[in-house]
Amino acid sequence: MLSIRSFFNPPLVFLALLLPLAAGQLCQLQFDGRIPDDLATTDLDVPNDIFSETFVIGQGLSFSQALRLLPVDTGSLPVAVSISDQSIFQNQVAFRRAELIPASNDGTDASTQGVKTLHFSVLKDNDRPLNLSHEYQLVFLESQDFSTNQFVLKTGTILGQDTADPDTLQLFGNVNQGELLFSTPFTANVFHNFALNLDFDQLTTQVFFSTGEDALVSVTDVIQNDVSGQGQFHFGVLKKPVDGVGDITQNGFQPDGIEEGLVFGGIFQEDSADGCVSLSP
Ligand SMILES: *[C@@H]1O[C@H](CO)[C@@H](O)[C@H](O)[C@H]1NC(C)=O
Repeated sequence: MLSIRSFFNPPLVFLALLLPLAAGQLCQLQFDGRIPDDLATTDLDVPNDIFSETFVIGQGLSFSQALRLLPVDTGSLPVAVSISDQSIFQNQVAFRRAELIPASNDGTDASTQGVKTLHFSVLKDNDRPLNLSHEYQLVFLESQDFSTNQFVLKTGTILGQDTADPDTLQLFGNVNQGELLFSTPFTANVFHNFALNLDFDQLTTQVFFSTGEDALVSVTDVIQNDVSGQGQFHFGVLKKPVDGVGDITQNGFQPDGIEEGLVFGGIFQEDSADGCVSLSP
């Protein structure tokens, strides 16, 4: 996870070296959700410079009840995000939700302007498996007016679709169009590394992907995708009900007694206005 292999357009190498950069970081950061190894989950219950302490968590819960930090040898700590029967956010009684939002990402900030690349890695939590009879949203951008998701990574049985294998990671573009941009089997015991190059001027998305320690490679063309509308990036577990009709935040079935989760690593966003995209996982 930690080797530094990066790609940028050759004329920009010089420019990039002149800019003040975080250690080991070859592109300018917009936000950094990588968790330092001296942090405790309770540090995320109060205002901090990594994630929102307020959204999105079940009513009456604090983030430290939904998060575990996993010990690793070096570098930033992966964070396991979990949901239970109590993970009911703002009376959405048919959803179960726990999601991290970067602290600086207030919905109108620069993370949804210009050209940015969003990085994150996901790993199955073997102790808290997801129920693949349900649809889960794992990572998404929700527009500032809450009218759409400009992209969304899902797994499980996608509502309204014929899911051939629910044990798949499926990345969709703007849900108004519903185009599948990329999908890959969701293999246990290995991180799945994504980088989404988001052009908020040209309204395009390009997907980079790898597993484990491998460097990211481009797995799509530059795809037209309506990423307008700014908003907030969510990383976590949003479990939808089955058999819901109408407003599925309120209607549908959710089994009781759940303890389900997912592990995230390497959440950060870099400025790619100059073409800089880090390809280290
Ligand atoms: C998975 O979800 C289905 C549909 O809600 C439910 O019938 C089933 O009991 C769940 N399985 C487990 C192991 O929770």
